[in-house]
Amino acid sequence: YSPRINIAIDGPAGAGKSTVARKVASALRYIYIDTGAMYRAVTLKVLESGLSTEDNEGVGRLADGLDIVLLPGAESQRVLVNGEDVTSRIRTLDINRNVSYVARLADVRSRMAELQRRMALEKGVVMDGRDIGTHVLPDAELKVFLTATPRERAKRRFLELDPNEGITLEQLEKEITERDRLDQERNIAPLLQAHDALLLDSTGKTVDEVAEEIVQWGLAAVRTISAGEK
Ligand code: CDP
Ligand code: CDP
Repeated sequence: YSPRINIAIDGPAGAGKSTVARKVASALRYIYIDTGAMYRAVTLKVLESGLSTEDNEGVGRLADGLDIVLLPGAESQRVLVNGEDVTSRIRTLDINRNVSYVARLADVRSRMAELQRRMALEKGVVMDGRDIGTHVLPDAELKVFLTATPRERAKRRFLELDPNEGITLEQLEKEITERDRLDQERNIAPLLQAHDALLLDSTGKTVDEVAEEIVQWGLAAVRTISAGEK
């Protein structure tokens, strides 16, 4: 028997949170939860509904009515909203450009945080986002704040893009920096390194190196807890 812990990974866009969190979860046989996908799913529905991204109550009611399900998969996680698979539709530039406005809304945030806490009750969860260590899971046994330079983050995202999206690396870097600013400056649960989070700068490191470092930190946290229980 070894105790299970929760791992929170926060940081700016393109730092490698999702890619690394998925690897860490698979190495530890934990469940990976991508909270950004939930804000993206709400944003998709807001854009479809024609609601304004400023309308806290309207969007809050819409979010309350959404059944958002994250299906863990080996390679990628599928995202279902009211039974409909929206996995690829939440990754467009249009969603990127609107999501931080939806994520500022108080009613949306409280609803998402409630769902996310419920998903982590059983422990053994690797959850990535912006406010996991500070707000959603303040008691997570391991908190990581993952960063990389804006240029490196933009380059990583650029490589993933469909060339048809027609955006330059410079434009993408600007959009990423703007989204980071919105996420850092919002009033509720902004993007912030928790005081007890370990800072990991992934600039110049491979995905495997970063994942391995976090796995080792996770195993160390598990050992500390086991020792305390004896
Ligand atoms: O993958 P990428 O870093 O581009 O973004 P994401 O993790 O999918 O998150 C998309 C957006 O959702 C962020 O820019 C935030 O505005 C919002 N978000 C948030 O506010 N809180 C979270 N825990 C996760 C995401
Ligand atoms: O979730 P977040 O926005 O923080 O980043 P991501 O969606 O995981 O995207 C990061 C991209 O950079 C992926 O294409 C990774 O393969 C790549 N990458 C990385 O994540 N970490 C490194 N150390 C190097 C590259």
